[in-house]
Amino acid sequence: MILRGAQLIGKQRAERLAMAGAALSRRLAAFAHRQQRNVQWQIAPIPQRYDPYLFLYHDQAASGRYQSGRSLLASLCIPSGGRVLDLCCGDGLFTRAITRSAHEVIALDYDAETIEYARQHHPSANIEYLVQDARAPLPAGPFDTVVWVSSLAYFTAAEAACILECVKASLAPGGILFGCTSLVHDGSESNPHRPFFRSKEDLAALLSPYWRNVKVFSIDSGTGPFLYFLAGDGVLPFDPDWPAQIASRNPVANLT
Ligand SMILES: C[S@@+](CC[C@H](N)C(=O)[O-])C[C@H]1O[C@@H](n2cnc3c(N)ncnc32)[C@H](O)[C@@H]1O
Repeated sequence: MILRGAQLIGKQRAERLAMAGAALSRRLAAFAHRQQRNVQWQIAPIPQRYDPYLFLYHDQAASGRYQSGRSLLASLCIPSGGRVLDLCCGDGLFTRAITRSAHEVIALDYDAETIEYARQHHPSANIEYLVQDARAPLPAGPFDTVVWVSSLAYFTAAEAACILECVKASLAPGGILFGCTSLVHDGSESNPHRPFFRSKEDLAALLSPYWRNVKVFSIDSGTGPFLYFLAGDGVLPFDPDWPAQIASRNPVANLT
């Protein structure tokens, strides 16, 4: 329906309308789930089962924090008090979600409107949002973590190789590159997201020239395979030495 509407009123107005509708529906969903939560959990008998949709639509909205499997994985790569570079950060929702414990975060995207949105909607004292092309020289390191989420496929293989070389130079000793990318393309000409690799082996081969330790794994949570990658010269999450390293970096976490 909105697609037909867009032909009549133009994409910009249709987009504004669709975004307003989506924002309203999120508020309604949060309100409705708050009622469900209050009735279920404030009046005896208290249920055994916690409806996961309460977490999705109420708890997250109430905390103002976005949580997903992806953000949890990214958080594992960010040491408490660390310095982080978020490449192609987008609207800042993900950036803010994963960098609560970081000391300093530089988040860049080449789209000025997107960065303006991030500054307005997802500001944080520890985040500096920059309008910058990831193909230009990167902000000065060293960084404990470089995050490159859902944007690798915007680049050609040659561009990606160049960026990886700069990432390598800007990572602190023991620093980690974390990212993820889709393997599938919806086939439409207007979608700029075109992966130039075809498998997790392809992606591992792209990263391996730069780092001794590379992990690529594929998770399909229902929308097609998504590849997650971790790379560094030191210990990575899920390595046998990782729990000990976490304990030394963050005494509160205890994974042993
Ligand atoms: C799919 S979004 C992902 C945003 C964010 N990382 C996330 O996961 O929410 C891809 C982002 O890459 C940005 N981008 C694409 N090419 C870029 C480039 N050459 N330099 C900087 N940002 C770029 C786009 O502007 C867009 O915001």
